[in-house]
Amino acid sequence: MITRRECMRQAALAACGLALMETQALQGLAEPGVAESAEAEIRGQGSLKAHARKRGLLAGSAVGLGPLRNEEAYGATLAEQYNLVVGEICMKFGPLHPKPDTYFFDDADALVAFAEQHGMKVRGHNFVWHEALPAWFAGTVTKENARKIMTEHILTVGGRYKGKIQSWDVVNEAINVADGRPDGLRKSPWFEMIGPDYLELAYRTARQADPKAKLTYNEYGIEYDNESADRKRAATLALLKRLKAAGAPVDALGIQSHIQAVSSSTFGKGLRELIDAADGMGLEVYVTELDVNDDGIEDDDPAARDRIVAGVYRDYLTAVLEHKAVKSVLTWGLTDKHTWLNGTKSHRQKRPNRQERPLPFDADYKPTPAFFAMRDAFDKAPSREAAG
Ligand code: XIL
Repeated sequence: MITRRECMRQAALAACGLALMETQALQGLAEPGVAESAEAEIRGQGSLKAHARKRGLLAGSAVGLGPLRNEEAYGATLAEQYNLVVGEICMKFGPLHPKPDTYFFDDADALVAFAEQHGMKVRGHNFVWHEALPAWFAGTVTKENARKIMTEHILTVGGRYKGKIQSWDVVNEAINVADGRPDGLRKSPWFEMIGPDYLELAYRTARQADPKAKLTYNEYGIEYDNESADRKRAATLALLKRLKAAGAPVDALGIQSHIQAVSSSTFGKGLRELIDAADGMGLEVYVTELDVNDDGIEDDDPAARDRIVAGVYRDYLTAVLEHKAVKSVLTWGLTDKHTWLNGTKSHRQKRPNRQERPLPFDADYKPTPAFFAMRDAFDKAPSREAAG
């Protein structure tokens, strides 16, 4: 028999809880009411996906293939809690396309197979970005061949997963106001090689590759009420308008939502205006990469930090989910154990001896207060028509 203690030790909360109940039932040990334990309450109808689904929302997480292959609790928790996944790394240009004529599909295929096995939808992230480019890019891509290389990549990858992707981030982070262009476009390698119409080309090609996927424009730094976010929102909306006017097929706006536990800026007004404007253009809106960076909290106490982080989750999601154009909420990771935030330069400089606690599951796969804040925010949100 699996003891409760052993179960906790293995930290496979969802899978283990179920195993414990099954074992007890088999041995006639299950008492009425055992399913009402705090652990049971987060499974089944208590899961993030069940609460999201009731409002027409998808609940998703970014997935790393290492932990998915190596940690049982990782896959079990994903399958239990979410109905949407996105590769944290595996569908980016460089990892998928390590040599000019070679693709590496093992990780992306494994993610799609995992999602199919568990009845989950998949977001594709991403075709065109200024980061995660392969080492060969610089020496190989020229103004003459860049259009061909970009379109071939989109057709090959988009074609392979055709019909299996709910939404594709076709272009990621194309705006950088600091680059000084009046339209705010980032002077990314793709921009430098192709020019500003690389975006139209990418969206048209993505539609050709996978006609059913919702083609998304994904951006960060558009969440807060401050001048820099105001400028970036304006440039983002102007870009979306330009793409629409040119007949480029854009279906959705992704608001990354990497936010701070402590910030001098508030959020609400700018987000609402952004979502309203996107909705007015006929776009769906997705929260694509939510996490709450706790570096700004001086108190080291994990419980104190968790409370603050959960409060930010609650406020942020309450503001965003007010609008029915918002169809999905994905966190950028599942567990604090694997958050990308621990690897960022700013974290290593500011809090070299502290692990971030930005996600709905802690390093032992226990639900954090942020988990419950997410669920509450889903409950409070108005019902909407599910994502197309
Ligand atoms: C990050 C991953 O989480 C890291 O593991 C990787 O080293 C760098 O990229 N915005 C995005 C994501 O669109 O693709 C980034 O993901 C985080 C910021």
